[in-house]
Amino acid sequence: MITLGIESSCDETSCGILENSDRILSNIVLTQEIHSQFGGVVPEIASREHNKFIYGILEKALNEAGCKMEDVDLIGVTTGPGLIGALMVGIAFAKGLGLAYNKPVVAVNHIEGHILANFIEHDVKLPTLVMMVSGGHTELIFMKNIGKYHVLGRTIDDAAGEAFDKVARILGLGYPGGPEIEKLASEGDENYLKLPIAIKKEPDFSFSGIKTAVMYHFKGLSKEMQEKHRADVAASIQKAVADNLLYKIEMAIKKNMPKSLIISGGVAANKYIRKRFEEFCRERGILFFAPPLTLCTDNGIMVAKAAFENFKRKTETYNLNPVPNLKLIEV
Ligand SMILES: Nc1ncnc2c1ncn2[C@@H]1O[C@H](COP(=O)(O)OP(=O)(O)OP(=O)(O)O)[C@@H](O)[C@H]1O
Ligand SMILES: [Mg+2]
Repeated sequence: MITLGIESSCDETSCGILENSDRILSNIVLTQEIHSQFGGVVPEIASREHNKFIYGILEKALNEAGCKMEDVDLIGVTTGPGLIGALMVGIAFAKGLGLAYNKPVVAVNHIEGHILANFIEHDVKLPTLVMMVSGGHTELIFMKNIGKYHVLGRTIDDAAGEAFDKVARILGLGYPGGPEIEKLASEGDENYLKLPIAIKKEPDFSFSGIKTAVMYHFKGLSKEMQEKHRADVAASIQKAVADNLLYKIEMAIKKNMPKSLIISGGVAANKYIRKRFEEFCRERGILFFAPPLTLCTDNGIMVAKAAFENFKRKTETYNLNPVPNLKLIEV
């Protein structure tokens, strides 16, 4: 069975083609560079860029996969969460393809896509804890099975990726900030700035206080000291994000006794965080899984995977309206 996944919820235009449950035939991702000059994604520009490039991305994905639209059995498209105008472009495109080629088009929750990116290469041991960390979400989820999710805690303010993006801006780095912080942090001292664990007693996360603490510290330094300690600040925020995530994960492990931990979303691409998670799991005797680096940030293959798995279980949905704040269905 061939599934085409279409992703356009934010600033990546992507089409991925998946054969059955785990064979990636192609995964073409266009990251819209145009937003970097504004320091963040401009919604209207994102929609226009999706519109301009989505057809070319599909053609590339089909060519690389060695398929034609006629060979595709199922189309999955992200219907939320995301930017409404950006979502609409992918949805209209998917609907058009479905009508023209007489193929079923199913709705995909972007967050479920990020989670299931882990299940393409790995035989994840269930139940698992999912640490979903992206530009818009920070959610700790107890997952009994595919389609069976329960959110244990989420951020009450900024998402982890957003915290990286905002601190990067304070440090005068480019957008997206996560990869820039990671690069710079490799030369810094992670113990330079002590940053606290937020709301210790609750399972929820908070990153805005850490970001503000970094801002006041950095702005209080002379130009010369800012230059000297930029890498140290980057390493300190990276450590603080990992510490905060692992603190709440530790609480959740004690309560829920999962067999494994997985990390999902753009921040999962951070090698320091992956290493910290790996060590943490090794010390506690549970398995750790992370998606391949190319499947951490937004991509069409994760959408295809979620569409395929739901279709297989007959839990697919055909409501193709864009829902900017779409939630995971919890059981
Ligand atoms: N190596 C990295 N280290 C830390 N953060 C990273 C890294 N690579 C990407 N990120 C962060 O991941 C985020 C982008 O991830 P993703 O594409 O999953 O988010 P999104 O799609 O914008 O949000 P959502 O998935 O919540 O809708 C950005 O905030 C970016 O800074
Ligand atoms: Mg995403």
